[in-house]
Amino acid sequence: MRDVIIACDFSSKQETLAFLDNFSDVKPFVKIGMELFYSEGPSIVTEIKDRGHKVFLDLKLHDIPNTVHKAMKNVAKLGVDMTNVHASGTVEMMRQAQLAIDEVNPSTILIAVTQLTSTSEEIMKQDLLINETLNNTVAHYAKNAQKAGLKGVVCSPLEARLVADACGKDFISVTPGIRFDDASKGDQKRVTTPAMAKEIGSSYIVVGRPITAAANPVEAYNRCVIEFVGE
Ligand code: C5P
Repeated sequence: MRDVIIACDFSSKQETLAFLDNFSDVKPFVKIGMELFYSEGPSIVTEIKDRGHKVFLDLKLHDIPNTVHKAMKNVAKLGVDMTNVHASGTVEMMRQAQLAIDEVNPSTILIAVTQLTSTSEEIMKQDLLINETLNNTVAHYAKNAQKAGLKGVVCSPLEARLVADACGKDFISVTPGIRFDDASKGDQKRVTTPAMAKEIGSSYIVVGRPITAAANPVEAYNRCVIEFVGE
């Protein structure tokens, strides 16, 4: 199944809740990132969950396996619907994260960040000394995530097919970098429309400013749903 996740990149709880007040009938799936989480604390998650939204808590954990295991138990206790770790933390780290989810709240979908879209192949080679193509790295990290028992990965929509080819079509791809075809790209470089993301095979699209900065956010959200989820 496909769904649209709104990236709530606001700096305060007040702004976030005021934005969510726009939505009365449907309660969209929302993404809470580290900026808001670190400023407001765990209560921001429970408050939004209590309002009836599904929550993707995007904290991208990356540490030694034992620390990630313990931290992930606390994340799972919040009852989040989706959360993530960095695949570069190793298979064992991802396995420990998944174990924590299984012990505390098995319904939480755990996914892994492959390569950040801010990392180009050149930067990957120069800074990280990874002498592989970006695509090979993404496919390899996705396979590692699958080996560790995770349900999917975060990747560019342009990589969704590559991930499906490597891990099968049931393996989830969560893809940011979405723009309407009549809008500006902002700071995103490799973008696709919601309709194109559907065609390539994304499972979930993460959409921020095209909805949060729209004159009518509900209309923009509905447009994403029609393009991405609609038959
Ligand atoms: O406003 P915009 O639609 O560009 O927001 C996209 C969201 O997805 C932001 O929260 C951004 O941090 C996140 N993201 C991304 N690229 C990644 C991982 C996360 O744009 N590779």
